[in-house]
Amino acid sequence: MSLHLGDKAPDFTAQTTEGELNFYSYLGDSWGVLFSHPADYTPVCTTELGRTALLKEEFRKRNVKVLAVSVDALDKHFGWRADINETQNCNVDFPIIADESREVAMLYDMIHPNASATATVRSLFIIGPDKAVKLMITYPASTGRNFNEVLRVIDSLQLTAKHSVATPADWQHGEDVIVVPAVSTEDAIKKFPKGVNIVKPYLRYTPVPDDNN
Ligand code: BEZ
Repeated sequence: MSLHLGDKAPDFTAQTTEGELNFYSYLGDSWGVLFSHPADYTPVCTTELGRTALLKEEFRKRNVKVLAVSVDALDKHFGWRADINETQNCNVDFPIIADESREVAMLYDMIHPNASATATVRSLFIIGPDKAVKLMITYPASTGRNFNEVLRVIDSLQLTAKHSVATPADWQHGEDVIVVPAVSTEDAIKKFPKGVNIVKPYLRYTPVPDDNN
């Protein structure tokens, strides 16, 4: 199945290292990050899951629940998880799905046959509290993902969900944001009391709005 931004994230029930889990129930009202990796006991994946565990507090602060997917079996996950904890100096306590049937992989189009006929690629989905797909990224097996970028996108998504703003290239949390084109300059000046910097009629910056703006 091919997913697009804005689509409803497919729900599923799966066996995981934290027991049987229903995706929507697991997410509740939180944001979600669902990410696949090619296989257990592989080096890049080991660093990715370790990094995710080490960022636990960053995900918690943003009200995000994470969930990993691989097509390997549960007993393999348990052994590998111990290795991840040992080598990455972390405690992986988020669920890792044992997707032996490929159900989740197929729902989220995580197998790209010209990359590998059987293994999942490095897909990552950010799901909003409304269960809509907000971001999809796909990396090849040989390139580990940048989890700081994942957090940066979550910051942008959470901000732009609340205010009529967008975030510019390389934006980092706290930096000025862009007023969306749908808001006239006249309205922007009223809406954003911290000020609007009009560089061009279509390029207008404002400091990060307060929650009530
Ligand atoms: C890895 O996770 O290290 C990996 C997996 C498949 C191919 C290449 C690298």
